[in-house]
Amino acid sequence: MVFYFSGTGNSRFAAERIAKAIGQEAHDITVYTKKKVPPVFIEGGAYVFCCPSYMSALAKAITDFISWASFPKGSKTYFVVTCAASMGITPKVGAELCEQNGLDYMGSAQVVMPQNYIALFTTKQKEDNNKIISEALPVIDMIAETVKNGEKLEEKKIGKIEYSVTKWVRDVYYKDFMKTKKFTATDKCIGCQMCVRICPLNNISMQDNKPVWGDKCSHCMACINRCPKDAIEYGKGSVGKPRYKGPEANLE
Ligand SMILES: Cc1cc2nc3c(=O)[nH]c(=O)nc-3n(C[C@H](O)[C@H](O)[C@H](O)COP(=O)(O)O)c2cc1C
Ligand code: SF4
Ligand code: SF4
Repeated sequence: MVFYFSGTGNSRFAAERIAKAIGQEAHDITVYTKKKVPPVFIEGGAYVFCCPSYMSALAKAITDFISWASFPKGSKTYFVVTCAASMGITPKVGAELCEQNGLDYMGSAQVVMPQNYIALFTTKQKEDNNKIISEALPVIDMIAETVKNGEKLEEKKIGKIEYSVTKWVRDVYYKDFMKTKKFTATDKCIGCQMCVRICPLNNISMQDNKPVWGDKCSHCMACINRCPKDAIEYGKGSVGKPRYKGPEANLE
């Protein structure tokens, strides 16, 4: 089975392409997490998890999902991490996660896709993103081929120091920096509620026809990038930057 967590569509895109290549469908993990009942999967065959890299490793949404749901013991498990530059320490985090959950770790692969972290970094113009996506296609196809053949993904070794320092930074970032205080809706907001519908954590509600943010946020950047009116800002950090609308919109 192929699962994904995705804010702006990069990881969904990779998951759907891999699923298609191996004759399956891709499943959004938030369909399960929003129901709040841990699912039990009994399907045989490989399990593939696609998600973004958040702070130098696979998104916590996926690691939490794997620990929360049940999978057949010993299932071959692959991680596919979309990122702007690097999947960081994913290989070690993924291997540990598999060990804790009785899964057979088959490796992790990174797919470089457009940057979506508009709150912190500079997002690119459409033409630059098109080039990045085109270059990602053969990488995704190679991963799909490896999964299809039941082979292991090649990955680099993660050193002990790199692992512990990165893990510490990640924990601090998740705890102290993934906040919503800086999100605001500007006068461009038309009250369409798209941000409410697409938030994977159900963290946005409407008050007086404008969105308000709760405190359960993974900083996935779906709301701010995908608002049809570009009416959301993150403090001053996002002002004037191009919004990343996802691979399909980009390739249109
Ligand atoms: C909170 C956050 C943290 C990120 N951290 C990293 C990172 O450590 N390394 C990296 O290469 N890209 C990082 N990115 C960029 C995303 O991993 C990348 O754009 C990804 O493809 C987005 O996937 P999605 O469209 O499926 O949400 C980060 C993005 C966000 C929103
Ligand atoms: S998606 Fe944009 S326009 Fe629609 S309600 Fe949210 S902020 Fe307003
Ligand atoms: S509120 Fe947070 S989790 Fe929800 S869409 Fe916005 S950035 Fe993502």
